[in-house]
Amino acid sequence: MPIILRRSQVPVKQPIKISRIDNLIIFLVCILISIISSYKLLLISPLNIADIFSWFLTFIEILISSGVLILVSKKENPTISSRQIFLIITLLLAVQATKLALASTISPLSMIIPPALIISQGMGTITALAWVSIASLIWPDPEIVINNNLFFILLVCASIVSLLGGRIRSRAQLLQLSIFVPIGSFLSQWILIGKDKISLINNKQDFVLANGDIFSDSLLLAIAMLFTILFIPIFESIFGLLTKARLLELADKEKPLIRRLSLEAPGTFEHTLLICGLAEEATRMIGGDIDLIKTGALYHDVGKLHAPNWFIENQDGSKNPHDELDDPIKSAEVLQAHVDEGLKFARKNRLPKPIANFIPEHQGTLKMGYFFQKAKEKNLDINEYYFRYKGPIPQSKETAILMLADGCEAALRAMNINASDKEALKTISNIIYSRKKDGQLDDSNLSKGEIFLIKRAFLNVWKRIRHRRIQYPTSKNNTFS
Ligand SMILES: [Fe+2]
Ligand SMILES: [Fe+2]
Repeated sequence: MPIILRRSQVPVKQPIKISRIDNLIIFLVCILISIISSYKLLLISPLNIADIFSWFLTFIEILISSGVLILVSKKENPTISSRQIFLIITLLLAVQATKLALASTISPLSMIIPPALIISQGMGTITALAWVSIASLIWPDPEIVINNNLFFILLVCASIVSLLGGRIRSRAQLLQLSIFVPIGSFLSQWILIGKDKISLINNKQDFVLANGDIFSDSLLLAIAMLFTILFIPIFESIFGLLTKARLLELADKEKPLIRRLSLEAPGTFEHTLLICGLAEEATRMIGGDIDLIKTGALYHDVGKLHAPNWFIENQDGSKNPHDELDDPIKSAEVLQAHVDEGLKFARKNRLPKPIANFIPEHQGTLKMGYFFQKAKEKNLDINEYYFRYKGPIPQSKETAILMLADGCEAALRAMNINASDKEALKTISNIIYSRKKDGQLDDSNLSKGEIFLIKRAFLNVWKRIRHRRIQYPTSKNNTFS
């Protein structure tokens, strides 16, 4: 019976919900991309069946490529929204249209690299690389032949931007990228293409100013990249993109919501800081997204702002309102409210979805054991259902780590300063084991090895806490530190 109850409460891993209308729009844009990219094949006269067949093959090929691009982006970002998919394919559509209109005047570098920067920043390296390969390979006008060397430089530069764009952590580094990539492209074009041009063009001025020459092309690329960086914050808010720079901005402790937490719920704030430490160390150990978990951890309990003194960490020994209420079911509702209110705060403060996900998932469908026991004392038949959080259980490794850190934090803080490493590890292992047994980690994809590493990471943080709590011997005359 308990297993059935648990299963019924654990939501199945849900695929991202994209409405039918959004799906239809996305599909229509993909069709449009395929038409734009292939219709020139039909403009041959006389047209024979072989030509129509080859057009049809190209059309299907582009349609499938667009589909694969969407699948790759969904795989890399399980929480991707329809708006973000729309952004990826609209950028592809824009590039194909630009190629038709301006292929003879604008260098392919300026057309493909700036969108790759947006996609790598917002959706990750793999999606950006997939986008780059499709955008570089499909040329709508069969008459335009790209120089092989230029194509090679395009692929290298776009790949570098995609790889670095997914990792860059500040706007300053983005600026550096927008300067060094054009310089790199200029030098490589000079070496691989420019030499031929110099021998062909006698007048030096022609070499610098001629249409499609490498200097103006690289300058245009630099300008296009700088403009893209300027517009990235706008893309972030319109399409809900979560770039590294945005994550770091959200992790700023001077943000009003976090300031409120530190003033109105100081106990929760302290708990949050300690959890950040635990979660960060564990995520580093398993190679997860550290910036994501640091920011997610900072906001995971903001919902406690709705009633700070109902949570033990903020009570400082004074009266416990739960005792006055004396109704375990109502108390459980107050606890659940910290998740519901947290999601409201997230909406009001426009927190990106991957950050908001930490709010319900850190509690999963955990049982509020203390109140359940109290209720059982009054009524033996009470249903466990009222004493479980509504979930969902953690859907990613990061939210699962946060749940485990949340569980271990209080236990580690309460532990005796003289406790041995072995005892601390045992406490950590027991807490993690109980979460695992309860089915809370079922959707998180954490492997046994990763759980082992998480335990070691928590132990390391515990050692650090213990070290901090040991008082240093100081003499009166020794005031330096
Ligand atoms: Fe919580
Ligand atoms: Fe918490």
